[in-house]
Amino acid sequence: MKSIAPHSYYSFRDAEKEIEFHRHDMPTPWMNYLSNGTFHTMLSHAGGGVAFYKSPQIWRITRYRFFHLPMDRSGPYMYIQDADSGTYWCPTNEPAADKPETWKSAHGLGYTRFGAKRDGIAAQTLYFVGPYENSLVWKLTLSNETPVAKELNVYAYVEFGMMEFMRELQWQCYNKHQVSVQYHPSEALVYRYGVENQPKPEETPLVYFASDTPLSGYDGDREEFIGSYRSEANPAAIEEGGCRGSTLMGGDPCGALQFKVTLQPGESRTLHIFLGTARDEAEVEQALTRSREAEFVERSFQGLRSLWEGYLGAWNCRLPDPDAERMLNIWNPYQAHRNFLFSRNISFYATGTFRGVGYRDTSQDILAVVPFDPEQALGKLRLLLGQQYRDGHANHYFFPNEGWEPVTSIHSDDHLWPALAAWDLLAETGDAGFLQAEVPYYDGGQGTVYEHLKAAIDFTASKLGPNGFPLMLRSDWNDQLFRVCREGRGESIWTAMQLGWVLLRMVDLAVAAGHPEDVAKYEAMYAQQRDLVNNLGWDGRWFRRAIMDDGRFLGSDVHDEAKIWLNAQTWAVLSGMADPEKGWQAMDSVHELLDTELGIKKINPSISTFPDPADPLTNYNKGTGENGAVFCHANTWAIIAECLLGRGDLAYKYYRQLLPNVAMDKAGLWRYKAEPYVYASNLFGPESDKFGLANVSWLTGTAAWMYVAATQYILGIKPVLDGLSVNPCIPSDWEGFTVKRRFRGCEYEITVRNESRVCQGVKSITVDGQPLEGHVLPAYPGRSSVRVDVVM
Ligand code: GLC
Repeated sequence: MKSIAPHSYYSFRDAEKEIEFHRHDMPTPWMNYLSNGTFHTMLSHAGGGVAFYKSPQIWRITRYRFFHLPMDRSGPYMYIQDADSGTYWCPTNEPAADKPETWKSAHGLGYTRFGAKRDGIAAQTLYFVGPYENSLVWKLTLSNETPVAKELNVYAYVEFGMMEFMRELQWQCYNKHQVSVQYHPSEALVYRYGVENQPKPEETPLVYFASDTPLSGYDGDREEFIGSYRSEANPAAIEEGGCRGSTLMGGDPCGALQFKVTLQPGESRTLHIFLGTARDEAEVEQALTRSREAEFVERSFQGLRSLWEGYLGAWNCRLPDPDAERMLNIWNPYQAHRNFLFSRNISFYATGTFRGVGYRDTSQDILAVVPFDPEQALGKLRLLLGQQYRDGHANHYFFPNEGWEPVTSIHSDDHLWPALAAWDLLAETGDAGFLQAEVPYYDGGQGTVYEHLKAAIDFTASKLGPNGFPLMLRSDWNDQLFRVCREGRGESIWTAMQLGWVLLRMVDLAVAAGHPEDVAKYEAMYAQQRDLVNNLGWDGRWFRRAIMDDGRFLGSDVHDEAKIWLNAQTWAVLSGMADPEKGWQAMDSVHELLDTELGIKKINPSISTFPDPADPLTNYNKGTGENGAVFCHANTWAIIAECLLGRGDLAYKYYRQLLPNVAMDKAGLWRYKAEPYVYASNLFGPESDKFGLANVSWLTGTAAWMYVAATQYILGIKPVLDGLSVNPCIPSDWEGFTVKRRFRGCEYEITVRNESRVCQGVKSITVDGQPLEGHVLPAYPGRSSVRVDVVM
C-alpha cells in the first residue's frame, strides 16, 4: 500500500467553498454532482463522468463504464493539440497519455474546474450545469504564454450511450441501429435516441452538442473519431489529421467537435461547449441561440452561485474544530442535498440501473433539507406519501421519472419514517397547515397528510407478531434481516423502537392537526411497546435486535456471532423507551464492544455461520458492508444517543472520528480511498483485512443524519414546536461556539460560551440583552435578526 500524506493530494479552500486536487491519480475517482434538478452530470476530479437527463435509468446521455478498466471512463473530455508537433493533452489530465506539466482541479458547489499548462499553453476549464438551460456548460480559456504564435486544434468529445442503460447492456447489438447523430445547420451535433418500445418516447429528449465558436470539424461516429483498438487515450482522428465529418445512422454514437485556435503571444481565447437536451429541433435552435448570447455563461454561473449562497445562507457556524465547521457549513449540507435529489441512485459505486426513490431513504434525506428549504422538503414528503396505500404501508422504491412499476415489498419501517420529517417541518415553519393538505393514496382515494401518517401507525398496529413487537415483514432498516424472517413470524425489536420515536412525534402531530382524540391511542401503544422493549427486548447488557422466525432472539449473548447490534442500543435511547439504567448500560456496551478508532461497528462479532452455516444471516464477508463494517449511517444515531445521555465528550468522539478527512488521515489515503469531503455509507471493519476502506460514498443516509446529529444534538440548535431550542451537548474542553441560523424568517445570531467547561447544561440565555427563561427561543415575526447569548 502506498503511504503518501493526504495533503499532497488535496487541500480545502474553505473561503471559496472548494476542495482542490493536486494530483489526478487518486485511489478512486473523487466525484462531484453538477445539476439543476433536471439535467445532471456526475464528474470526477479527473474529468470522468456521466451526464443524464432526469433519470440515469432511461435518459442517460453519455456512457460511463462502471467497474471497468481503465477506471473512470468516459467523460466530457477536451483535447488540446499543438498543430505543428501533433502533441496533445487534456486539461482534465485524463485520458490522454501525454500529461500537462502543471495541473490541478477543484470541486465547488455545483461546478468543477481544472487548471493545466503544457508547452506554454495554459488551459482553464470550468464545467457546470446552470439554472437556465438543461445543459452541461464547458468553458475553456486558452492562453499562449510563449513568445511565438501557436496554432492549436482543440477537440471536445463525449461518448453517447443508449439512454436506457439496462437495455444497452442487453440489446445494444440491435438497438444501436435505431440511434442517430446528425449535423444540424445551427452548427450542432444532434443525437436522437429512436429505439423502439422505449418507456417514455414522448418525453425522451434530443441531445445537442455544440459551441459558440465556429467548428472546423466534427464526428458523430465513435469508430471514426476513436478508431479500432484505441481508446479515449489516443483517438485516431486527433492523431491522423482531425475529425472526419462523420454522422451516424446506426452504430456507436459519439459527439466530437473540433476547433482551430490561433493564439498570438500573450493572447487568450475562451470557448464554450454545450451538451444539452431539448424536446425537438426547434428547441435545440432556441436553446443554442440563448446559450450563445454574449453574457449567457457568466450569467448562468452567477445564477448557480447565488442559488447555493441562498441555500447555505440558512446556517453558518464557527467552531473550535475547523474540520467539523467546514463540514457543517459546506460539504455536509451539499452532500445531503445530493441525496435528496438522487436518493441512492447513481454514484461511482451505484450504477443507476434499478433503484428509484427509496421510501425509507428519501424520508430520512428530507431531514437535512428542512432547515434550508422547507418548501422543497414538503414537496418531497408529499411525493413519498403518494406512494402510500390506504392501509398505511408504502412502496419500497418507486420511479417518478421512469414510470416503472414500484418495488412493492413491505418492510416494517418504511411507512413510519415520514412522521419524523413531518414533525421537523412543523417545528421548522410553525405552520401546521400542511397536515390538512390532501394527498392521494397509491391505491386510490386520498387523505390529509395527517391521515397518511396515522394510517402508517394503524398498519404497524395491525402487524404485530406473537410476542407483540412489530413483525419484521420483508426487513426493517437493515436490508439483510430478511434472511431470518422469511417465514413471516420474525419480529423487529428495533422497529418497536423506531415506532416509539414516531409515536412521540405523532402525539404532537395529532394535536397540531386538530385530532387530539388520537393522542391516547398513541400513548397507549408507546407504553405497551416500551414495556416489551425493556423486558423481552433486554438481554442483560444490551438490547436485543429481533426475534427470528424460529423464535430465538437475534442480538443476544447466548450466540457466538452477531451478539450485539448497534441500532438496538441507539434507538432504545432515541425513542426514550430505554429505562434510564438500561440506556446507559446499552450505550456503554456500544463503547466497549463496537467502537473502533475508525467508527462504530454495526454488529459484533461479524457473522460467518450464524444462525445456520448453510444459510447465514448475511453473505457479506466479515467486516464488509452489512457484516461488521463501520456502518456510518448507523453511527449517527450513536452520536444522538450520547447527546441525549448528556455525554458530550463521547458523542463528539463518535462524530469526529467519522469526519471523512479525519478518518482518511487516520486510515491513510490509500486505505480509505474515497472522497475526504463527503460521507461514505460504510468503512470496512476491523475483521476485514482492509479495515478503514470507505465504500459507497456520496449517496447514503449518513449525510442527512450527520447533519441532524451535529447541528441539533451536539450544537443543540433544534427547532421545536414552540421555537428554537438551544441545548448543546459539546466536548467539555470547548470554550464555546457561534451559530447563525435562519428560523421562521429571522436570523438568530447565537453565541454559546462554555464558561464552566461542561458538556451540557444551559445556565442563562439573553436575547438582545434581555434574559430569557428556559432554553427555547421564541419566533420573532417581523424581526430580521436577533442576538442570542448563551452561557453553559
Ligand atoms: C443501505 C440502504 C438502506 C438501508 C441500509 C441498511 O444503506 O440504502 O435503505 O437502510 O443499507 O441496510
